[in-house]
Amino acid sequence: MIVRLDKYLAGLGLVSRRDAGRAVKAWHVFVDGELAKKSDVKITEWQIISYLGQDIQVREHVYVLLHKPQWYVCSELDEGGHLSYKVLLEECVYAPMLHVAGRLDQDTEWLVLCTSDGQFTHDIISPKKKQEKEYYVSLRDPISDEDIKKLELWVELDDGYLTMPAQVQRLSEKDIQLTIHEWKYHQVKRMVESLDNEVVYLRRDRIGDWTLEGLEKWERRYIDKE
Ligand code: URA
Repeated sequence: MIVRLDKYLAGLGLVSRRDAGRAVKAWHVFVDGELAKKSDVKITEWQIISYLGQDIQVREHVYVLLHKPQWYVCSELDEGGHLSYKVLLEECVYAPMLHVAGRLDQDTEWLVLCTSDGQFTHDIISPKKKQEKEYYVSLRDPISDEDIKKLELWVELDDGYLTMPAQVQRLSEKDIQLTIHEWKYHQVKRMVESLDNEVVYLRRDRIGDWTLEGLEKWERRYIDKE
């Protein structure tokens, strides 16, 4: 990755490209401890930019695991009286670069992956990649063994889509652990609705090998892509 200094700073939303140039001229920007003499100087991954006293490591892509509580929306802006997940990325200098890889509804909580890497997001949500998403699901009505078998084979969603086989573990009369491999809008809720039942509580415990181990609600940590 090689990018212009002013472009990188602008991409982080810290400053416009023009003002980045002004900051350079005013001797406010350093790269790896050396004064940046021009705003179009090329920078590469892992270098450290010091901008107005703030140190920023240059990263092509960033991956963040976030512990989302209920009532935050996974859209860039607040919606329906609920705050955007971006609030949970406060003081994360990379926040303007990030989007959610696989949204959660506002009333669904726990594991959210945020990234700047579109290919990574594609790999998370593409059914072809078979990336596991594991949910803890509480239901309105007890679930029968027959309904569990249906989920394990396929169910038909309200738009006619037939789901791929899911893994289901019964946890109690009304609670299951559901692991799916594809990504459809409100998929878990719609799968449960196809059984004439309803989700009363939903949380995502795992995507692939990533879990929230060691993270409290509202906390986040950087992760590696692999
Ligand atoms: N399925 C849903 O119905 N909601 C979510 O938030 C995630 C998966």
